[in-house]
Amino acid sequence: MQVYDPLDVEFLADPYPAFAWLRENEPVHHHPADDRAPGFWALSRFEHIWDAVRRPELFSSASGLTFFNDEIGQLGIPPTMVMLDPPVQTQLRSLIGRGFTPKRVTVLEDRIRTFVRARIAVMDRLAADGAPVDLHQQLSSTVPTYVLAELFGIPLGDQQRFAPWVHALTQLQNDGFTLDVEGSGGAALVAMAEMMEYFTAAITDRRTNLTDDLLGALVAAEVPGPDGEPQRLSDWDILGFCFVVVAGGSDTTASLISHSITLLSEAPDQRRLLLDDPGLINGALIEFLRLESSVQGLARTTTADVVVDGTTIPASEKVMMLYAAGNRDPREFGATADALDVRRAIPRHLSFSSGPHFCIGTHLARLQARVAVEELLAAHPWCTVDAAAGTRHQSAFVRGWLSLPVADIG
Ligand code: HEM
Repeated sequence: MQVYDPLDVEFLADPYPAFAWLRENEPVHHHPADDRAPGFWALSRFEHIWDAVRRPELFSSASGLTFFNDEIGQLGIPPTMVMLDPPVQTQLRSLIGRGFTPKRVTVLEDRIRTFVRARIAVMDRLAADGAPVDLHQQLSSTVPTYVLAELFGIPLGDQQRFAPWVHALTQLQNDGFTLDVEGSGGAALVAMAEMMEYFTAAITDRRTNLTDDLLGALVAAEVPGPDGEPQRLSDWDILGFCFVVVAGGSDTTASLISHSITLLSEAPDQRRLLLDDPGLINGALIEFLRLESSVQGLARTTTADVVVDGTTIPASEKVMMLYAAGNRDPREFGATADALDVRRAIPRHLSFSSGPHFCIGTHLARLQARVAVEELLAAHPWCTVDAAAGTRHQSAFVRGWLSLPVADIG
């Protein structure tokens, strides 16, 4: 029996049996410290996680989102709303919300579709030449990078530079911000410094040439200053926004696109349903995300002793919210919770969390994934991937692919 050990490669290969064990046997689990990580707690039942994330006064985000210590201090990054609690987080969130209005997101659809078609054409050319095709590298991971660059108003000529920065930031994040500065972490830090430098220059530019993009919206935003008078955000604050959007919006979305095809590759009957009724796509994407949650779990820190299901978690303890375990809880999703059902009604789920930190990019993520999967299935209805030959991130916090070879372009 595979036990819950978030830093173990065997657990990461298939975490779901261990999640099921936790849910049934130790829903409020204490994970002991060892030489790799400090001790922490873990919640795995849907209802417990749903309640906890909606009570930020007891389960705080302000001490970081992993079970490691001082991840915020280590990185030296500007404070971001995802690592703050209300009311400050609420105020910052309302500022960034202006960049994500439905109008701003909807106008992107045509451009995303054109981009996706061009990427599928690249896959087609490789396949025609008999070269290996990688769904994650050639399609899924390119879509959010393109969309983020568009959202920030990064000129086409600079967009090539953006991809390695996004990669570096997601790598740091997926490692739980534990930096191996001598190894690959060093290169990631250099890439991040480049990104900060680029964005700082772009912010300076926007201060004189206001543009209608997310950076422009942030430069124009005003918050009450110490004297109560409205004041503009500092460069440092705006960099924090850039950081949280890039970190939160890229790999998560790429993994959703890749997992859609991974799950459909194993379930031809479900694919048939989707091909026969393309209108099922919006619900199907939530079902893909429920079964393979891009964000598997993030931590909160208790601000006081809290009793969950009869167990007392002391104050100042890290508590993992195992979203991916809650998303397969039969108490919420019934006896078929582990099975793919593209027609499943899903009134609530944990893939985007809930409460004050509910993902601000849900519409944008779903739009990108819908367009990518729609276009791929239209061009190649029976495209399948070889998951066994793919490479996954090794992370306790996110689940996704680094590479995912196409088995049959279909
Ligand atoms: C399938 C794709 C995505 C998934 C699964 C996802 C998941 C999540 C989750 C679980 C959280 C809550 C974090 C917590 O519990 O502390 C979150 C927050 C957030 N996400 Fe997403 N996300 C996705 C796409 C995006 C996109 C496309 C963007 C922006 C471009 C984005 C921006 C954010 C931001 C800014 C927050 C912080 C919100 C706050 O703290 O108030 N996400 N996301």
